[in-house]
Amino acid sequence: MGNRSIAELLTAADELAKSRLSERRYAHTIRVADTAEHLAKTHNLDPERTRLAALIHDAAREMKKDKYLRVAEEWNIPYGDFERENPKLLHGPVAAELSRRELGVEDGEILDAVREHTVGRAEMGDISLALYLADKIEPERDYPSVEKIREMAENDLRAATTEALRTAIAFGEMRGKTVHPASREALNWLDESDGRPNEGME
Ligand SMILES: [Fe+2]
Ligand SMILES: [Fe+2]
Repeated sequence: MGNRSIAELLTAADELAKSRLSERRYAHTIRVADTAEHLAKTHNLDPERTRLAALIHDAAREMKKDKYLRVAEEWNIPYGDFERENPKLLHGPVAAELSRRELGVEDGEILDAVREHTVGRAEMGDISLALYLADKIEPERDYPSVEKIREMAENDLRAATTEALRTAIAFGEMRGKTVHPASREALNWLDESDGRPNEGME
């Protein structure tokens, strides 16, 4: 695969998403990419790497349901009982591995962001926070607290992600769904770190 420039990767990721997704979901992908890039610029993250993660994030979202576990086995993607019950939750981890194999994406922060975008994770990096949020607040999203989360995301990625996770957890519980342990862990982590910057971030 060699070392492709970020510009080449952005083009290849866009093509990957376009070739694997319905028009509707490809349009969502582009809105998430624009939103993620905006958040990156607002919060001094790398806009191109953040956009790349967003272009990849749902690339595996339209696979047949029974294929996720098979691909996960084949590609040595770890998963637990939760994913066994809800194989679609593997679309992030599968998309990350797909982009590594097909596009040669080796950037760990980007791959983590793609993997984590559905349920979050404790100690998410900043690109991951931006992608998680962009997926929840892209312009076509419409639910009671979305405006509040949009406003928060302009000022503080962590506070906004806390709110977005709380919303997602409450919504899941309302519908009688079990919450993914990673979402609770992410929320606990954000509550504990309470606005303190990540290690390694100035
Ligand atoms: Fe997704
Ligand atoms: Fe998405």
